[in-house]
Amino acid sequence: MVILAAGQGKRMRSRLPKVLHPLAGRPLIAHVVATARALKPRRICVVYGHGGEQVPRAIEAPDLVFVRQRPQRGTGHALQQALPHLDGSGLTLVLYGDVPLVAPETLAAMTGSGRDRLTILTAELDDPAGYGRIVRNRRGAVSAIVEEKDARPAQRRIREVNTGIMALPTARLKRWLARLTDRNAQREYYLTDVVPLALGERVDVHAVTAGANWEALGVNSRAQLAELERLYQWRYATRLLEQGVTLADPKRLDVRGDLRCGAEVSIDVNCVFEGDVRLASNVQIGANCVLKNAEVGAGTRIEPFTLIEDARIGAHGRVGPYARIRPGTRLAEEVHIGNFVEVKAAEIGARSKANHLAYIGDATVGRDVNVGAGTITCNYDGANKHRTVIEDGVHIGSDVQLVAPVTVAKGATVGAGTTVWKDTPRGGLVINAKTQEHRPGWKRPRKKGRDS
Ligand code: UD1
Ligand code: CA
Repeated sequence: MVILAAGQGKRMRSRLPKVLHPLAGRPLIAHVVATARALKPRRICVVYGHGGEQVPRAIEAPDLVFVRQRPQRGTGHALQQALPHLDGSGLTLVLYGDVPLVAPETLAAMTGSGRDRLTILTAELDDPAGYGRIVRNRRGAVSAIVEEKDARPAQRRIREVNTGIMALPTARLKRWLARLTDRNAQREYYLTDVVPLALGERVDVHAVTAGANWEALGVNSRAQLAELERLYQWRYATRLLEQGVTLADPKRLDVRGDLRCGAEVSIDVNCVFEGDVRLASNVQIGANCVLKNAEVGAGTRIEPFTLIEDARIGAHGRVGPYARIRPGTRLAEEVHIGNFVEVKAAEIGARSKANHLAYIGDATVGRDVNVGAGTITCNYDGANKHRTVIEDGVHIGSDVQLVAPVTVAKGATVGAGTTVWKDTPRGGLVINAKTQEHRPGWKRPRKKGRDS
């Protein structure tokens, strides 16, 4: 199997090689590699070129063989570079790094149809602009593929297009590639020119139509990439709906990775899910949330405008609105994290609450703890991070600073405005001795230099 990915993608107007532009959060070519792997081929060979080592670096894996094409002189020339790695006895399946949505089942249907024939994956598009056209003879058999730039007006009206994906008998392919020429509008060695060569050897040329039109779509411009992104997201949302997930608007959901949902999950508009996200049953996600590599336990509500990354949220909790849960956070069951609360690398025990305006970082918080508004764990001394431990049943008043490393022992109450800078004993009240004065008759200062 060969994936062609050496082209520049001029129409993208980007320095990033086209196949590395992201679709649903992953490079285009990563989608193609995943599809290729699903077919369990003997070898996956990636032809790269434009952008140097960026492509291999982005997708490096032990099962991929990388071959450099330099200069890039067309799809036929690209495939030629891979020849030394192909076993002469079998079929070679050619995939394009910029055609990311083709389904493994479609490819399986192509390779299953015989060893000594040339199979082309085609599609009927309403707008075939930019694609090579499938030319058929009077008997309806494929006779050629004509690139748009080389096509006559009548040929341009053909709506059946070449997806670029082909299965070819490898031994013949070696001969055919050697005979390609660059006598065409783009001065390139077109892989598509193998069709007449195959017919010349009386090899059956067979067109398989893609199961769905979107499988055929290639990315040549940013507009096409954006279109494919919407299509991908629409299909993903449709699958979630079929699984029983409630989506307030399937058109306003973005999944850039893998989202797995239990029963009766509901997701409001404009949420983004990145990496691996698992939502247990009865989870509700409010509008405008971003969850990345996160797990949310059963029955928990994530309120609007909440960001969660690399964290595990327990069952029956409530997080947000406007909460930020950063990497390394573990919330046990029934935890409440409220608005403008930031939590980082902290474990918080069952039924504990931090409902307003707080920072809990590098902390271990026990069960049944209440953290008051404006409380801050001062975890950073300018050079190192230190941990704060808040044991079970502690009540922390508003506007408390916990200067780490520090432990507030079980059952203690910390008064509002206290700076806790050394460990406290169990129970009792912790306050800083402060007094409040009142100065009657005190005058506010006045602005200087102004007559009054
Ligand atoms: C190609 C096909 C066209 C088909 C279309 C489908 C040819 C001649 N044309 O046209 O019939 O309808 O794809 O999307 O095959 N590449 C290389 N090395 C090169 C040139 C290209 O590796 O020297 C790779 C590109 O990275 C890309 C793929 O081959 O992944 C297709 O190249 P592109 O230039 O986009 O071809 P199209 O003009 O789209
Ligand atoms: Ca293309």
